[in-house]
Amino acid sequence: ERPSLLAGRRVIVTSGPTYEPIDPVRFIGNRSSGRQGHAIAQSAVGAGANVILVTGPVALPDPPGATVVHVETALEMQAAVAAALPADAFIAAAAVADWRVERVDNEKIKKGEGGAPTLRLVENPDILAEVAKMNKPRPAVVIGFAAETNHLVDNAKSKLLRKGCDFIIGNSVASGTTTFGGETNEVLLIGAEGVERWPSMSKAAVADRLVAKLAVELAKRS
Ligand code: C5P
Repeated sequence: ERPSLLAGRRVIVTSGPTYEPIDPVRFIGNRSSGRQGHAIAQSAVGAGANVILVTGPVALPDPPGATVVHVETALEMQAAVAAALPADAFIAAAAVADWRVERVDNEKIKKGEGGAPTLRLVENPDILAEVAKMNKPRPAVVIGFAAETNHLVDNAKSKLLRKGCDFIIGNSVASGTTTFGGETNEVLLIGAEGVERWPSMSKAAVADRLVAKLAVELAKRS
């Protein structure tokens, strides 16, 4: 890693899942180890960036050299990202829960009283789309992830447009792939100019390649 690649750049990375509480002991969450997001934060530090990592609950150590903000819910992640802005780049690798429970119980819901509870869900903010569409100083490069089980390229392309980001890393999570919790990742980089297919490599190597790409794009745009 060349420490000058991102020197003077401020990079915000989200990583991990979010946990949306049901009551004090239960939550709804997403499958995410945080490995890819943490690896990106680590390579950006190695490339000389000032890195703010906003992470949900993960079983990983904080990457040395990054400023790490620990959050639990999507609303907390949204607030932490807002507080960390402005930045040169925003990389959304977190698996944010799409919904949260509308009314969180203050006490543990007891089993057996009137059968199973019905949970009413409300939509969480889309942090990536909000940052990509903001008209205050927007990060010059905004990168999202798309984990899809099928039609990866088409779904990732439509996500790119819908969310307004500059690049999407498309990830196949079809059965038989090792993306979740695994060490390696086979991804596509989708941008306005088209689709780059990256070979299967470690999450650290994906991170390094993404950071190199980010440096090139930042040099073009700012
Ligand atoms: O729509 P979907 O969740 O598949 O999009 C994935 C991308 O959007 C990821 O980059 C993820 O970090 C980001 N995202 C977000 N806030 C949400 C949902 C997804 O930042 N509420």
